Amino acid sequence: MILSLPSTGAPPGAPFFSYRQGQFCAEEMRLSDLAAEHGTPLFVYSQAAILHALGGYQRALAGREALICYAMKANASLAILKLMAQAGCGFDILSGGELEVALAAGATPAKIVFSGVGKTRAEMRRALEAGIGCFNVENETELDVLSAVAQEAGRIAPISLRVNPNVDARTHPYISTGLKGNKFGIAHERALAAYQRAAALPGLRVTGIDCHIGSQITEAAPYLEALDRMLDLIEVIEAAGVPIGHLDLGGGLGINYAGETPPRPEQLWGQLLARLDARGHGQRKIIIEPGRSLVGNAGVCLTEVLYLKPGEQKNFCIVDVAMNDLPRPALYQAYHAIVPLAAPGQDNEQTWEVVGPVCESGDWIGHERRLAVRPGDKLAVLSAGAYCMSMGSNYNCRPRPAEVLVNGTSARLVRQREPLADLLRHQIG
Ligand code: LLP
Repeated sequence: MILSLPSTGAPPGAPFFSYRQGQFCAEEMRLSDLAAEHGTPLFVYSQAAILHALGGYQRALAGREALICYAMKANASLAILKLMAQAGCGFDILSGGELEVALAAGATPAKIVFSGVGKTRAEMRRALEAGIGCFNVENETELDVLSAVAQEAGRIAPISLRVNPNVDARTHPYISTGLKGNKFGIAHERALAAYQRAAALPGLRVTGIDCHIGSQITEAAPYLEALDRMLDLIEVIEAAGVPIGHLDLGGGLGINYAGETPPRPEQLWGQLLARLDARGHGQRKIIIEPGRSLVGNAGVCLTEVLYLKPGEQKNFCIVDVAMNDLPRPALYQAYHAIVPLAAPGQDNEQTWEVVGPVCESGDWIGHERRLAVRPGDKLAVLSAGAYCMSMGSNYNCRPRPAEVLVNGTSARLVRQREPLADLLRHQIG
């Protein structure tokens, strides 16, 4: 059990989130000022942190034919999507909803790849009409359905098959996706037959191959293993007469939540590109689908301490953010560092269970945290840029938080706190 921030290594989000003159800041902005202006819970993102993370990938892939498709499931806020689109990114989408939001953010349709095990015919039609770059197909029946939908629409669907390389990403079981027992992708052994079927279907054009082995991966080894398996397969499929085109290795690179030290994109891709070159695939177009590693440590969630409830067994620190806003701890037992907005003194620290107001014992944000807190204090939950706001809900009829994007000395409200009236808006009663 991790009791407090690890003493070694940089804290999550540094240097874009740091204490300046005793105040926790996003870039040059005091977070306590933002909390006072916009209320809590409040998500705050650093534009420089996002562009810095993206820059790592862009440098790593410079000089190659490569496309970075931001996995927008990590954080689908329009302002963040616009930043990504303006920086030249494509998007990895998972639903018709994500398609509409990506297009609204100015996405280039040809730079969109559509992943997911359960695409509906209506979603396929809309994506074909928009002219997306590639459907990442996940099973053989989907090939038939997509071909039929494309023919009806008078179009040809560009496709890649998501292959399950049966590689252990050594991460949390809920976010490990490349093993045989997972619902994702086509089994490695069936891939050749599936490609032959795809090549014979009139509504499809094979443009690539893809895999995604999991999320929050903190080592290079599983990627190298997956790459080797994918290259083996490409060689077999191409030898059988089906040209493959691009290789999409998915996303999954981890971030520092609690002292993890994943490779930087430059380090990871340095190794992967060297392997591609060594195996004679240096010219192959590369697509990647990073999500968490672009935005995870570019965001924090600000919250206010509502009540302190010391107890015989545990002390509860009740805050105004809950599992509906920040579901990762409840869902994955995930660790998010929690720090005060005013620099901590060493006095009066106690061990707290930091919990939200929702009516579930699973509604916790942090276990056994050493904090000196009083009601009314403001805290920041770190590493909250990915899979927090995007996985939020209205559980307990709690409106969704507001979001602010910081750029240097300025801050912009990019999503209003959800008005209470919206909780009733679509209900007919
Ligand atoms: N591509 C595909 C096909 C994916 O399924 C995912 C994530 C990504 C790319 C992006 O992976 P990333 O770079 O963000 O690791 N809610 C969980 C994470 C679920 C990931 C789902 N797929 C969490 O909060 O940890």
